[in-house]
Amino acid sequence: MKNITVGIIGGTNGMGRWLADLLVKEGCIVHVTGRKTEMTATDVARIGDVVVVSVPIAATAGVITRVGPLMKKGQALMDLTSLKKEPVALMLAHSEAEVVGCHPLFGPSVTESAGHNIVLCRGRGDTWYAWIKAIFEKTGYHVLERTPAEHDRIMTIVQALNHLNTIALGMAIAETGIPLTEVNLFSTPIFKAKMDIVKKVFTESPELYADIIAGNPDRDNVLRTYEQVVLDICDLAKAGDGAKLKNAMETAAKKLF
Ligand SMILES: NC(=O)c1ccc[n+]([C@@H]2O[C@H](COP(=O)([O-])OP(=O)(O)OC[C@H]3O[C@@H](n4cnc5c(N)ncnc54)[C@H](OP(=O)(O)O)[C@@H]3O)[C@@H](O)[C@H]2O)c1
Repeated sequence: MKNITVGIIGGTNGMGRWLADLLVKEGCIVHVTGRKTEMTATDVARIGDVVVVSVPIAATAGVITRVGPLMKKGQALMDLTSLKKEPVALMLAHSEAEVVGCHPLFGPSVTESAGHNIVLCRGRGDTWYAWIKAIFEKTGYHVLERTPAEHDRIMTIVQALNHLNTIALGMAIAETGIPLTEVNLFSTPIFKAKMDIVKKVFTESPELYADIIAGNPDRDNVLRTYEQVVLDICDLAKAGDGAKLKNAMETAAKKLF
């Protein structure tokens, strides 16, 4: 397909900027919008063959319900949201355009495609789904095709549980009251690697991490499991029973690896 026009709402920064750069290299005409750009979300909804929503999670539903009704059957409405059930359902409900759900499983600083995964969710129609899938594959990304429900269920682990664990570590260290400058003098390689992640999650985009935990519709079971596991580990540690804790880890390792 030639001379494709793409409008990226939230394309001035972050993941929208990443996609804009990629699509410009692929020969598309790309218009980006932010809250202060002259071109608005409404403008790109009217002129784009493909319109991509890439705004913070808390603003996503509002943008989709505003621009979706402006779009027609031959166009495509797509999103890059880190959660998929709600935005894909909203795009289907509020627009007659083709619908593609997309979640790149990496951050905007990624420059190399090799080794990076992108989830695509079929919403409505085949034309634009096949188009974007072909672009991602041609540029070296690994595309994983899943339903929004399958995506969100696995994200309870990859995002909710993973980031919850990081947030718990950071908050517990803060609660001890021991200055990190002092703790860092005793740093091991593993501690340093973990604290780099804690720093990224707490300082770069805390609202993103908070929303992908709190906003995941399947989060409750996994949060309950985490709570119970931490209590069980604490009980074994408090009993001074290293052997039982080691046995519990070996049992888990057999399930995991
Ligand atoms: N960051 C990641 O690692 C990552 C990875 C995969 C998917 N995602 C998803 O990508 C989407 C965007 O996240 P991001 O991290 O790229 O965010 P970001 O870096 O904060 O960029 C957000 C973009 O949206 C615009 N924006 C901010 N608030 C807005 C509002 N209320 N209404 C309209 N536009 C607004 C911003 O433009 P102005 O500031 O110029 O207004 C900017 O262009 C989210 O759905 C997130 O779940 C993020």
